[in-house]
Amino acid sequence: MSKIVQLDEHLSNMIAAGEVVERVSSVVKELIENSLDAKSSEITIELVDSGIREIKVTDNGIGMDKEDLKISYLRHATSKIKNQYDLFRISTLGFRGEALPSIASVSDMTIKSNDGSIGYYIHLRASKLMDEGIISLNKGTEVTVCNLFFNTPARLKYLKNENV
Ligand SMILES: Nc1ncnc2c1ncn2[C@@H]1O[C@H](COP(=O)(O)OP(=O)(O)OP(=O)(O)O)[C@@H](O)[C@H]1O
Ligand SMILES: [Mg+2]
Repeated sequence: MSKIVQLDEHLSNMIAAGEVVERVSSVVKELIENSLDAKSSEITIELVDSGIREIKVTDNGIGMDKEDLKISYLRHATSKIKNQYDLFRISTLGFRGEALPSIASVSDMTIKSNDGSIGYYIHLRASKLMDEGIISLNKGTEVTVCNLFFNTPARLKYLKNENV
């Protein structure tokens, strides 16, 4: 019988999360980089319980429309490169399409965005789309990450022990 199995999307996202997201500050860094890449002039960071309970990053950047928002948390989904040649002329902080799917796989994440047309939100729990809909929001994006590492107990314990 074959011993090799190909890991499913969710499990491979959780493993990737171990590389992208180590602690609260790595989540904040990834979200701020996204806000800067979105040409924001104002970025707000809010932490509840040192970010263990909630991390919220709000910006006034270009935002996303509903279609982009709904694929933004999928693995390898990026608006920053399109082909291998773009790798030699990267002008953004991100380009891997790894940050949002990694964070989404180990948290309860809500992304609200408005690209100047209409506001939309998605709520994900461990990468799964739980809820979505139209909302009222100024142009820009608001990402809320709750209960980081709720589904990876070893990492959660490390996070709580860490002197944040
Ligand atoms: N604050 C934001 N404002 C506007 N668009 C955003 C924002 N955050 C994410 N996005 C969109 O979602 C996509 C996915 O974000 P994600 O951080 O996962 O990947 P990335 O920034 O392209 O690459 P990396 O994984 O290296 O950060 C981005 O390419 C961008 O199009
Ligand atoms: Mg990014």
